[in-house]
Amino acid sequence: MSEEMSVATFVPEEPGEQNTRRAFLVAAGAAGLLYTAALGYPIYRYLASPSEMALSATAVTEVTLKDAHKLPRGAVLMFRFGTAPAMLIHHEDGRWVGLSAVCTHLGCTVQYESQADRIHCACHGGVYNAYTGANVSGPPPKPLKLFKVAVNETGVEVSRT
Ligand code: FES
Repeated sequence: MSEEMSVATFVPEEPGEQNTRRAFLVAAGAAGLLYTAALGYPIYRYLASPSEMALSATAVTEVTLKDAHKLPRGAVLMFRFGTAPAMLIHHEDGRWVGLSAVCTHLGCTVQYESQADRIHCACHGGVYNAYTGANVSGPPPKPLKLFKVAVNETGVEVSRT
């Protein structure tokens, strides 16, 4: 019986048979990659934050807000960072904070509530820290994107950190 197996092992392959096998393996590998991409993209879209997606959709890295240095304490200025909504908060204690206004849950535009000194998303009750953008309660899975803020005598410059 072992002689039969060894004889079968030494049967030479036809030259075209090897190419056919290689072509099959290449096609199977390509199909596997396409299948993985087809499965992976929806998972990526599900896990990616709406805030990050909104910001990555724009090439803008800095916005100059003319005269925004006059914003009174306790007030907020909503503006567009490229195509995404954003906010500049001038806190009662004098600190300036720039944040993305795109909720990290499902992408609603969030609002600053000066009385409570918090950021609230009316869609599903998400709450964020108004100084750091950290998600405090509700469904938001991630913090709001925090921007770098530079105040000067003509306005405020807000840029990506
Ligand atoms: S979209 Fe903001 S909490 Fe759901």
